[in-house]
Amino acid sequence: VVLVVDFGAQYAQLIARRVREARVYSEIVPSTMPVAEMLAKNPKAIILSGGPSSVYAEGAPVLEREIFEAGVPVFGMCYGFQLMATTLGGTVDDNGAREYGRTPLHVTKAGSTLFEGTPTEQSVWMSHGDACSAAPEGFTVTASTDVVPVAAFENDEKKLYGVQYHPEVLHSTHGQQILEHFLYRGAGIEPTWTTHNVVEEQVALIREQVGTKRAICGLSGGVDSAVAAALVQKAIGSQLTCVYVDHGLMRKGETEQVEKDFVAATGVQLKVVDAQERFLTALAGVSDPETKRKIIGREFIRVFEQAQLEILQEDGPEVAFLVQGTLYPDVVESGGGTGTANIKSHHNVGGLPDDIEFELVEPLRKLFKDEVRMVGQELGLPEEIVQRQPFPGPGLGIRIVGEVTKDRLDLLREADAIAREELTAAGLDREIWQCPVVLLADVRSVGVQGDGRTYGHPIVLRPVSSEDAMTADWTRMPYDVLAKISTRITNEVADVNRVVLDVTSKPPGTIEWE
Ligand code: XMP
Repeated sequence: VVLVVDFGAQYAQLIARRVREARVYSEIVPSTMPVAEMLAKNPKAIILSGGPSSVYAEGAPVLEREIFEAGVPVFGMCYGFQLMATTLGGTVDDNGAREYGRTPLHVTKAGSTLFEGTPTEQSVWMSHGDACSAAPEGFTVTASTDVVPVAAFENDEKKLYGVQYHPEVLHSTHGQQILEHFLYRGAGIEPTWTTHNVVEEQVALIREQVGTKRAICGLSGGVDSAVAAALVQKAIGSQLTCVYVDHGLMRKGETEQVEKDFVAATGVQLKVVDAQERFLTALAGVSDPETKRKIIGREFIRVFEQAQLEILQEDGPEVAFLVQGTLYPDVVESGGGTGTANIKSHHNVGGLPDDIEFELVEPLRKLFKDEVRMVGQELGLPEEIVQRQPFPGPGLGIRIVGEVTKDRLDLLREADAIAREELTAAGLDREIWQCPVVLLADVRSVGVQGDGRTYGHPIVLRPVSSEDAMTADWTRMPYDVLAKISTRITNEVADVNRVVLDVTSKPPGTIEWE
């Protein structure tokens, strides 16, 4: 394992992903973890991430010196670089040499371990106030910029390396190459982390954990639960039963996709619970977004528990396991969480009931989303499931601004299907992270269609681009595609006479409207 020490901000996750793109397994640890504990994990290398602090700020995170003396190769980036410099006796000062954004880097040492084979002039992404003016003893300066004399250094003998910039961001043109040089050349690690190996390893672990007992898994139609279920199915076959709750808030064709395509690809035993009436009844008369979310979450758990009870009563070995599609970012965020504000109460499949005790099986706990998709592909899941864009657990229930009714759901399903069809036809599925289609059910506007006046509802298109849904920007998509979607929706969907585009980034807007 390669450890990525997290000094705050969002850099650590990106670095961990880049390490894995280099086919080396990585994990994130908080900078507050004692160095002895880090070393006890037997890391093959350690990467120190960037962070928002100045090394001289009061309360700025520090590291015990032992981390540099254990014989484990270390690569410091940005804040990590400055920390390495100051801890080992170099000089970092606030001399006004600030750099933010794309910056030209001059590589000053031919044959450096990190820079070998990359151009002597390259573009890098900087974001710092303080700057290093003298490298620690025993280190060679390998690069500089117009304002910073020491922008990179290395001590090949001790296997210590550092760069002032952010090699993990794509604006650093040779960043990935430099990271790979550290991993392969500096630390001597072989790139063996492949999807195939991940599947083999997880299948063995699941078999060992579950033994001869049975497991259940809630399917949402989303990528994560589908891939988790497929992995567990591969490992234990008929010992797994999947439960799919059809709450009537799904998009067009989604329930069929789970019932047919997923079952065909995996051979999984599936229990579909039709709970449409129940959800509609519970949601009747409710417009407040948080109340809707809570009702959907609560009803979901009840229906799911009922299905569990039925499975528990069937003959067969004990049902002792619940499969969940927890991903690595969820693990990192809930572990290192410093109490982020509750913006929306998210609901996910398979919330644990209090009175039935299950042991969790979480085969995706170590994976990032893109890796989950690759595992899904490796397992032979249909492209439409593996490449599916994110869709919220509460479904279309939170895309109708106003009360949720059967008619409104049918209307929104049609509009959403048209938008998805045209986005796919235009080849925009990869570029767009997701495109919620929202019905403003309490708003009406006047229109004209044929010779008559109409008084219908607007549909909002919310195409966003994002890397992780934490922040997002509205996608600048081609006008002709927007025009086609607009024309089709207003022509084909009764009661909709206007289509509007949401041009808000996140923040300040969230991706979903509720
Ligand atoms: P927001 O609207 O908070 O959404 O910007 C961020 C991402 O999360 C999805 N989302 C949900 N996913 N259960 C989920 O599984 C939920 O309750 C939920 N609410 C929002 C949203 O689609 C976006 O991808």
